[in-house]
Amino acid sequence: MAKTTPNHTQTVSGWAAHDSSGKITPYTFKRRENGENDVTIKILYCGICHTDLHHAKNDWGITMYPVVPGHEIVGVITKVGSKVKGFKEGDRAGVGCLAATCLDCEYCKSDQENYCQQLQFTYNGIFWDGSITYGGYSQMLVADSRYVVHIPESLAMDAAAPLLCAGITVFSPLKDHDLVEKGGKRIGVVGLGGLGHVAVKFGKAFGHHVSVISTSPSKEAEAKQRLGADEFIVSSNPKEMQDASRSLDFILDTVSGEHSLLPILELLKVNGTLFIVGAPDKPLQLPAFPLIFGKRAVKGGIIGGIKDTQEMLDICGKHNITCDIELISPHHINEAMERLANNDVRYRFVIDIAGSSSTPQS
Ligand SMILES: NC(=O)c1ccc[n+]([C@@H]2O[C@H](COP(=O)([O-])OP(=O)(O)OC[C@H]3O[C@@H](n4cnc5c(N)ncnc54)[C@H](OP(=O)(O)O)[C@@H]3O)[C@@H](O)[C@H]2O)c1
Ligand SMILES: [Zn+2]
Ligand SMILES: [Zn+2]
Repeated sequence: MAKTTPNHTQTVSGWAAHDSSGKITPYTFKRRENGENDVTIKILYCGICHTDLHHAKNDWGITMYPVVPGHEIVGVITKVGSKVKGFKEGDRAGVGCLAATCLDCEYCKSDQENYCQQLQFTYNGIFWDGSITYGGYSQMLVADSRYVVHIPESLAMDAAAPLLCAGITVFSPLKDHDLVEKGGKRIGVVGLGGLGHVAVKFGKAFGHHVSVISTSPSKEAEAKQRLGADEFIVSSNPKEMQDASRSLDFILDTVSGEHSLLPILELLKVNGTLFIVGAPDKPLQLPAFPLIFGKRAVKGGIIGGIKDTQEMLDICGKHNITCDIELISPHHINEAMERLANNDVRYRFVIDIAGSSSTPQS
């Protein structure tokens, strides 16, 4: 970690939750000065990830209030530290979940710094100087340039914002399993929300057969027509689940709430992998029999490293992949969070932080 910027002198306007009601209100706080390795970003847009909701409501019991959520941040660079390479004023930049890592361990040295034990997050983290990190529901961010990426010119900034968390979180497992830019497998996506809808887009862009496994029959038409899914399986329908048994090579589970893994595991072929990225607050039960009888594996993963994040964004630029978003003004964050909690979003809320969009907003 670069340790050069101890002074928190800059006043920033943002939005924070103050207790487990999760209610978001305007909040003014301080950020550090722009250090020699830092860039300052005028934030234009920030996505509302379900993780923001988990934190605002202290679902995981780890929230340090007041919490300024937001780790799907895009904006324009306004200041560049003297030692920064690869960024200049005016660049379109993105920041995801990572604020600091040790840069010295085996994971940091192999571009898997998202698995560093000293990892600190963009919000609700403790930075090296002891300060609590504040996220993208705010007008300005100072970020170590090591954790900043370029947003391809071809992508709309608002619809690209959720790629910084939702995008990399589903891209990284696909890459790890050799499923990027190489098609022909049968992939399942459980939960068609922010993460899930990007996973469907990636799966189709890379040439796979993609099945959505969902609790919401109302999403079927969109999943197939707009997102290009090949199959839509309603998880509460035993016949549909039975018909799909042993049909999939790889499943991404993006579900945010409690659910049963047994019926999902039965959808995997022998030797298939269930990859969990959703983070319900209660432990999921892992039944032994579908693993034993199908030689199946269950894994999990957290976001992805910065090198992979840039690669993912560049691939999105090439395939013109962005997120399906509902753009809101900061005044409507609480309504958006409530709708997200009620599974009522297609498929990501993005906050127009700077009021720079000409698109009509709710
Ligand atoms: N591992 C990581 O690095 C990482 C990164 C980002 C987010 N996350 C976590 O991933 C999860 C999803 O995030 P998101 O932003 O995509 O959330 P989201 O937009 O709310 O999507 C989650 C989807 O899961 C399904 N679902 C919700 N509750 C369910 C339940 N009880 N049983 C079955 N299905 C349910 C719904 O899809 P259907 O209507 O289709 O059923 C919903 O749209 C969250 O827990 C978040 O914290 C993890
Ligand atoms: Zn997230
Ligand atoms: Zn490390």
